[in-house]
Amino acid sequence: MPIYHTLGSIPRKRHTVFRKPDGENIYYEHLMGTYGFSGPASLLYRDGLPTEIKAQRELMTLTWRPDPDQTLRMRHFRLNNVPNGGSMTLNRMPVAFNSDVAITLAAPDRNDDFFYRNGQGDEIVYVSEGEGVLESEYGTLPYRTGDYVIIHRGITHRWKMNLDHKQRFLITESRDYVKTPERYRTQWGQFMEHSPFCERDIKRPSELITHTERGDFPVVIKKNNALHEVIFAHHPFDVVGWDGHYYPWALNIEDFEPITGSLHQPPPVHQHLEAGGFVMCSFVQREFDYHPEAIPAPYNHMNVMSDEILYYANDEFMSRKGIEYGSMTLHPIGLTHGPQPGKYEGSVGAERTEELAVMIDTFAPLTVSESVLSVEDESYQKSWLTDGDPSGEVKVPKQ
Ligand SMILES: [Fe+2]
Repeated sequence: MPIYHTLGSIPRKRHTVFRKPDGENIYYEHLMGTYGFSGPASLLYRDGLPTEIKAQRELMTLTWRPDPDQTLRMRHFRLNNVPNGGSMTLNRMPVAFNSDVAITLAAPDRNDDFFYRNGQGDEIVYVSEGEGVLESEYGTLPYRTGDYVIIHRGITHRWKMNLDHKQRFLITESRDYVKTPERYRTQWGQFMEHSPFCERDIKRPSELITHTERGDFPVVIKKNNALHEVIFAHHPFDVVGWDGHYYPWALNIEDFEPITGSLHQPPPVHQHLEAGGFVMCSFVQREFDYHPEAIPAPYNHMNVMSDEILYYANDEFMSRKGIEYGSMTLHPIGLTHGPQPGKYEGSVGAERTEELAVMIDTFAPLTVSESVLSVEDESYQKSWLTDGDPSGEVKVPKQ
C-alpha cells in the first residue's frame, strides 16, 4: 500500500536504541519487507523476540483435488448453498486455482483460538457477509459487509468475528504482491483524479493494543501448501509501535465510485486491484450509458487471454439470468461469452443497475476444484440456447 502509516510509539531515528519504560531494556526492531529490501516495508518495535519459538509441527497438507471432468464449458456454482460451519483458517473450501491464484470460500461459525499467518501468498478477503475486527500485530482493523480486506503475506492476524452476524468470505490468495492498479497512481504514489477511489477510502489499522504476556501462543502458518503450527513464547501482538507501507488494509465496495459513459465502458474501468497473473474488478450500482441509442449490456466477447470468474454479491446482474446471491460463474478461455438471450436487447432503454459483483480475471487457465461440484448448476451452459428466438423472454422496446 503506497500510503505511509504509523501507530504507537517509535524512536525518532530508525535502527537506534529504543528503551522500554524501565530505562534499561530495549524494544526489538523488526523489519517486515518485500522484494529483497526494495519493496513496501514496515518497521515494527516489539516487546519480545519475534524469533523465540518453542515448538513446531505440521498440522495438515492442503490437497486440492481437481474436478475430474475438466471438459471445456461454462460453469455456475451456487456457493450460497454451502452451509456455514468451522474455522476461518482451517475450513476453507477450494473453488478454483492455478499457479497464480487460489480461490476459496470460508463460512465460519466460530472464532479461532489461535493466530494465523500466510507465509506463501497475499490474501484478498471479500466480506460477502459479516462484521467484526481483524486483529493483527499492526493493530485493529474493523471490517463489515462489502469490504475487501487485503492481508499481505507474513502478517500475523486473527479474525474476531461478531457471531451475531452470519459470516461469509470469498478469499483470493495471490502468489504475487497485491496492489492497486498503477495507472490510478502518480509516479509518486498518490491516487490520481481519475481513480475510482483514493486515499480517503483506504481503511488502515486504527488502534494498536500491545500484549506482553509470555506463555504458549500457537500461530498457524501456511507454507508450501501445508498448515504448520508454530508455538511462540510470547503473544504475537507485542508491538508497541510501527511505521511504513506494509500492513493490512481494506476498501469497501461501496466506496468504489463507478466510471460511466455515454456508451458501454469496458471491464478495466471497474478494476480496483492487480497482481501478477490476475486483476480484480468491482461491478457496482450505477447509472447506465446515456447515449440515446446505447446498449448498456456488454457485447459478446472473447477475452482470449483470461478465464473470468464472477462472484455475485447480490442477486442482480444486468447481463445474466438464473444467478442468485452467492453464485459464482466461470467463463473460460476458449469460449465466447456474453449476455444471455434477451438480456442484450432487454437492456436498451434501461437507466440504472443495482448489480454488485466481484470479477477475477486470471491470465492462466483455472482448474475447478472437486469440492464445489455439490453446488454446481449443470444447466448453466445451456442457458444461452434460444430455440430459434434470440430475443428470449425480453423484447426490444420500440424506438
Ligand atoms: Fe466478460
